[in-house]
Amino acid sequence: MLPQTSTDNPRTAWFTEARFGMFIHWGLYSLHGRGEWARLTERIPEDEYRPLMAQFAPPSTFHPREWVALAKEAGMRYMVLTTRHHDGFSLFDSQVSDFTAPRSAAGRDFVAEYVEACREAGLRVGLYYSLDDWRFPAQHAGPKKDPKGWAELVEYVHAQVRELCTNYGTIDLLWYDGASNPGGSREDSWQAVKLNRMVRDLQPQIMINDRSGTPEDFYTAEQHLTSPQDIDRLWEACATMNKHWGYYPADPCWKSQKECIDYLNSCVSLGGTLLLNIGPRADGSVPEACVGRLRALGQWLQHNGEAIYGAGRSILTSGTLGVVTRKGARHFVHVHWWHGSRLTLPYVSVPIRAAHILGTGQPVRVEQCGTRAFLCDLPEQSPDPSTTVIELELAGEPQVMPPWDGA
Ligand code: GLC
Repeated sequence: MLPQTSTDNPRTAWFTEARFGMFIHWGLYSLHGRGEWARLTERIPEDEYRPLMAQFAPPSTFHPREWVALAKEAGMRYMVLTTRHHDGFSLFDSQVSDFTAPRSAAGRDFVAEYVEACREAGLRVGLYYSLDDWRFPAQHAGPKKDPKGWAELVEYVHAQVRELCTNYGTIDLLWYDGASNPGGSREDSWQAVKLNRMVRDLQPQIMINDRSGTPEDFYTAEQHLTSPQDIDRLWEACATMNKHWGYYPADPCWKSQKECIDYLNSCVSLGGTLLLNIGPRADGSVPEACVGRLRALGQWLQHNGEAIYGAGRSILTSGTLGVVTRKGARHFVHVHWWHGSRLTLPYVSVPIRAAHILGTGQPVRVEQCGTRAFLCDLPEQSPDPSTTVIELELAGEPQVMPPWDGA
């Protein structure tokens, strides 16, 4: 049997159960609305970028609770907020930086507000933190050319991580990014072993991603669904709904609602957890295109959550239909492409005792001929306008599909 969930490790079990979280890219760059990389890509100088602090003033009516409510509506179980991105602007109060939200026109510690909102709603709290900070010349020169500047950068980064792990109570997940490697090993450059030892001392239950130079708890796949080679390793895919992480209204390339839903079930079918991004406007509001997609996901999960939360890989192949997930003895066929009243599963080596449409409970008649199985007398059109899930109850443990000999 394929490993499906790492429920045996109480520290990480919640992550596999959750399967779906919200990523939030929000910062000074949201004022420009050209993604989170504009400072570097457009070569915006410090004396032009820093004054944006005076304009960063979400209305007092905005509270991160709105993001959390939306995540809940979408059926998400955890959140990850960019506490500081590569531009160096911290959304939290810091003793080692004056380039922060509390010192901007906003005058607020958004990390504190966000953490509190997550906890109120019972969502797991994740903090994104970029080790890279473009404001430091050493960031660009690297540790070899500027050892003194580099040492200052690393000291500052460690100090900020300490602040994040000290000032906000229990943190469930730390999501590093950046850690670019301008010379030498990433692990050594950023003193990742020391850094993560400190984090675990301060937050023993925390989960840490793999972007600081050491592997830690889980692998991250960015904008793709490739699971790690090691099938037992926890992993998370992060993805945008259009082509950008930070707010970018000129980008019209939105995944359809169905693509978002199928991205989630495909991720779970590969044993992964999906962190789906929103890029709010500078005033904190969430673009309607994101809201609509998140609501659609939430509605779909209300009927099909059994096939997602705590579910994982199934050995069954779906043939031309879509993907299959599994939870315990239950197998779920996610029919991405509903092409008529009779659907084929190419290889089911054990009898199917019963089948039904997960969303409606409607029984499905099954015919089996050799190792092929047919789901019969179905409606011509997919009962769920996005993706219908059919649950199978099998009489035993299914086997891997053998290589085909053409006979
Ligand atoms: C990349 C990008 C960064 C984004 C991250 C999300 O590392 O540089 O802007 O935050 O991906 O995974």
